[in-house]
Amino acid sequence: MLIANKRASHTDYPNELKTILSVESAEQSRQWLKNWKLLSSSATPLWDLPDAAARLGVARLSIKDESVRSPLGSFKALGAPIALVRLILRLWPEHDLDPKGLIEGRYKAMLTNLVVISATDGNHGKALAAAAQTIGCNCVVVLHANVSAEREQAIAAYGAQIIRVRGNYDGSVEEAARLAKENGWHVVSDTSYEGYEAIPRDVMQGYGAIAAEIVEQSESHADESAFTHVFLQGGVGGLAAGVASYLWQIHGPKRPRFVVVEPRQADCLYQSALEGRAAKATGSVDSVMAGLACGEASPLAWKILERCIDDFMTIGDEDAIRAMGRLAAGTGADIPLVIGESGAAGYAGVEVVMRDSQLAHTIGLNGQSRVLVISTEGATAPSVYSECVGETADSVLARQAQWLEATIR
Ligand SMILES: Cc1ncc(COP(=O)(O)O)c(C=O)c1O
Repeated sequence: MLIANKRASHTDYPNELKTILSVESAEQSRQWLKNWKLLSSSATPLWDLPDAAARLGVARLSIKDESVRSPLGSFKALGAPIALVRLILRLWPEHDLDPKGLIEGRYKAMLTNLVVISATDGNHGKALAAAAQTIGCNCVVVLHANVSAEREQAIAAYGAQIIRVRGNYDGSVEEAARLAKENGWHVVSDTSYEGYEAIPRDVMQGYGAIAAEIVEQSESHADESAFTHVFLQGGVGGLAAGVASYLWQIHGPKRPRFVVVEPRQADCLYQSALEGRAAKATGSVDSVMAGLACGEASPLAWKILERCIDDFMTIGDEDAIRAMGRLAAGTGADIPLVIGESGAAGYAGVEVVMRDSQLAHTIGLNGQSRVLVISTEGATAPSVYSECVGETADSVLARQAQWLEATIR
């Protein structure tokens, strides 16, 4: 399913949106994040997949590989640490704390009584737990029933206290808010709700680093983007808002066409486009794309998305699984890549569109199109990955190493 968003604008980036997300603030976050030991010191790779482009019938297909952003395995490592740093700066303005020192853990002694809490599908909670551990505060993570034991252990390994609740993601968000109020803890969530916007804004702002690197690596210029189409997977909408707002501000009216891709069962952004406001999903909110299994759009993200996402589409779990396999396989010219269930959704969206000539025509995808997708995670749940791809992540990585050796030689 795909709908065009009639509210999408191709003007300059509006000034009123700069108070939510801006290139300037994204750049500041990026500089501070450079001091976090769990983030790669170099840009994540932007790979061209020429064989996939030829098979799909587009001129160029590029993939930004966020699986290697951090040992945490996903792009979420860019959000939680910066939100936590900015929260601490706001809590203790009189201390004149050095943000770089905070992220390096130099203020641990003064933070031992600070407790942060968040709900998560997995990746945000892991990033928050790891950030809290480095910075020196305590972390509680609320998990809903569908988060696997494997993901729970990965979060607990970074010292977080885990609380399990029944129901889905939205129930865990409510429980985190309730516990915070009851205990005087601070919610550090990647989704916004009424009266709670500053922290999710900071989280989204952290994701701008991905777009900044894309602009540099693709040699895009203000008046010409290297890409005509950008496919962005949507959970609550934070990733899409963080990346699309950055590219919109850089390219203005010449920005690429943005397409948001969600699981059919967790279509809260698609429903938001239909209703014209941040809305709830209509499906079961249970998908193999665990990071995208969100029942409610983030209202703050929606303020950005409603103005710049040109199309909203949904895909099936089987589409994501097929995409993971294709990307893992690689070809003579395409590097084999380890891309997790949610990570493959953007690419899966391109495949779904190109299978249907009517859809491709609707969004102007053709032999001249230069398409960008973002792999937002690696094998963050290794057993699910092996089951979906029929091969372990380590085995794919071994083939990747061989491919690199053969190609670079
Ligand atoms: C791997 C992955 N990709 C994409 C997303 C979507 O991000 P957002 O919820 O900000 O839309 C998530 C969210 O957890 C995720 O874990």
